Parts: sequence; structure tokens; C-alpha cells
Amino acid sequence: MQYSRNIGHLSPSATLQLSAKAKEMLQSGRDVVSLSAGQPDFPTPAPIAEAAFRAISEGKTGYTASSGIPELRKAVASGYSARRGLEWSQSEVIVSCGAKFSLSILIASAINPGDRVLLPRPYWVSYPEMVLTWGGIPVYPEGDINGDSIRKAAAEGAVGVLLNYPSNPSGYVPTVEEMRNIADAVADTGIWVISDDIYEDLCYLDSGTPHILDVRPDLKERTAVVSGVSKTYSMTGWRIGYCLCNAEWSRLAGMLQAHTTSNPCSISQWAALAALEGSAEAQRAEMLQAFRNRRDLICSLLSNEERLQFERPEGAFYVFARVLVEGTLDSAEFCGELLEKEELAIIPGSAFGAEGYIRISFAASDEDIREGVRRLGRFLRGRYDT
Ligand SMILES: Cc1ncc(COP(=O)(O)O)c(C=O)c1O
Repeated sequence: MQYSRNIGHLSPSATLQLSAKAKEMLQSGRDVVSLSAGQPDFPTPAPIAEAAFRAISEGKTGYTASSGIPELRKAVASGYSARRGLEWSQSEVIVSCGAKFSLSILIASAINPGDRVLLPRPYWVSYPEMVLTWGGIPVYPEGDINGDSIRKAAAEGAVGVLLNYPSNPSGYVPTVEEMRNIADAVADTGIWVISDDIYEDLCYLDSGTPHILDVRPDLKERTAVVSGVSKTYSMTGWRIGYCLCNAEWSRLAGMLQAHTTSNPCSISQWAALAALEGSAEAQRAEMLQAFRNRRDLICSLLSNEERLQFERPEGAFYVFARVLVEGTLDSAEFCGELLEKEELAIIPGSAFGAEGYIRISFAASDEDIREGVRRLGRFLRGRYDT
């Protein structure tokens, strides 16, 4: 039998693979510390879980409209309209099985085979694979993403760009000027944008994360916004994400969803509605504060490591550090050896298109953060300084 070439050339998700290996080692009794998680380590707030129990007891357990229940689509549309000072209607919202599927159907609906899509580095692991799955070609700017790199990519045929701020893996949040520079180039070149805002509410700056539609609202027609409840409300397993985009884009993406997953879980949709209606704002604020404290803790611990160079993340829950060695570090080999020798799980930068770097998650207890950094330091000294 012949199998699909499109699927055959995908790589397994390095982040999921490493987390799985760490779990396996834990189950076999090894003392593994994991700073690899891509999810909050808090339970879903009780008022949200209670809304799910209510949905079950009220029998809201059948299929829903494939793009989501009207109540939730309306809540997303009005929340985003208020947040950005723009107008999205309910029909321009699709609720999906996680933001990951929102991204996938948006990309699928926007590209044709051979279309080039610009992915700033470091990128989230799944972007290149999604572009490849749908027959597109991922292209990467040489250095940081900015107006010049967008103009160059567009001149070489790029049709769209994916933006993700705060960034996974770096927690980077651009300045308003940087965002304006990007937005102006998007406006000049006419490419489309998918803005992955999944970490937008996990930002440690009082001023929040500058958004492309804040600096250039006129780009709304060709900008799709993706977000969800996974990270903000500690609901990764509930699988609810959503996107907002123009009517034609959402019609196409909605059809694809209808013929693939149909609606996301009905019960999770009612739970997500409770989250968006503000039933767990106190818990959300507490989780955000906990992440801010952990960010401060891990940055102060890591700053003692001379071989690590990093910028303080202003959002999400990761530190993306460059390991200072002679030549370029093989990050996968580094992380594999670290897991075997020190029983510490972190993610290699190669998974994000940034060889020489490592991603350290601080979605973990203070105790694990302290112990994890201790092990990392010991490993670095043993590997390079003896
Ligand atoms: C940048 C980014 N986008 C999207 C997602 C997907 O979110 P969800 O779990 O809602 O599918 C993740 C999850 O790790 C992410 O880090």
C-alpha cells in the first residue's frame, strides 16, 4: 500500500515525545523532574467544572452546531470585539477542538499547494507541520521578524505569516513599535496573518501584549485571530479553542471542520462559556500571579548559570535559553543526555527551529523549579567545566 507523502514527511512532536519519555521514566520509579510541560499545572477552576456537570445533568450531550453553540460563539465575538474595539459577528467565529485545530483549519483554508508561509523563529512546533500537511512550504526569516523580513519574504512569494505573542517557546512580547513595523509591512505587501493569541492573557506586562489589530485595525479583513481557554483557564484537556476571521475564511474553515471533527465536545463548550462569562476570574488572576512569581524565581536562579543566556519572558510560561558552548549545541542530544543523567526533562530548541537553545517550562511547583535548575547547573558543569 502507498501512504500519503504529505503525512509521511511529518516529524513527531518533539515536545510530546519528550514529555512521554519523562512520564515513562517516572512510572518506572525514576526520580524525574519535568520542566517540559506546555500546560498550567493547576486544576480547572471549580466554577468551570461545575458548569460542565450542569451541562451533563441537563442533557446537553448531543451534537451541537458544528462551528459551536451559538451562546459560546456569541461570547467569543462580543469579548473580542470589546477587547480590540472592532466588530466581529457570531458567524465569524468557529469553536474547535483546541486552538491547534483552529490553526489547522485556518491554514488549510488559506493555502494552495506550493504556497509559501512565513514562520518567524523560534516558532511553535506544530506550525511547519501544519503548513506541510496542507501542501504549503514553510519559510523562515533569517533573523528576527520585522518589516524588512516580511517584505523580503513577500517579494519571494510568501502569501501569509503566523504571529504568536507572547511566544511559545520564548515568552517574547514585542514592543508597540516592533508590532507597528510588522503591521505596516503586512499592509504594504498584502499578505494574510494568523495571530495565535493563545497566551495573550498570560502576559506579565501591565500594558499587555501589543496586537497587530491594535496598531493596524485596517488589517482585520485578512487577519485571523486564534485563541482559546486551554492556557488561560487551565483547560488543556477540555479541547476548546476558537478563531475569528472574515466571513469567507470562516465559511471555508467551518466546512472543513464540519467534515472532519464536527463540533468540539458539547460539555466542554458549556464549560468554556462559563469561563468566558467570568465565573472564574479570581482563580484566573491567582494563576497569573503564581506564574509571575515563578517567572521571577526561575529567572533569578538561571541567572547564576554562566553558560545560559536568556531574555526574561514577559508572557507564557517558558524560558528560552541559549547554551553558550564552543560551536553550536546539538540541543536534542543535550536534552536526551540531561534526561538520562540528571533525570530532568526540558525541550530542545531544535523543536522550535532554534538549534543551540533549550526551553525550560516554569509551569511547575517552586520545589521542582529549584530542583530542576539545580540539576541543570550540575549537568552543565559536569559536561563543560571539568
Ligand atoms: C503557541 C501555541 N498555539 C496553540 C496551542 C494549542 O492550544 P490548544 O491546546 O488549545 O490546542 C499551543 C499549545 O501548546 C501553543 O503553545
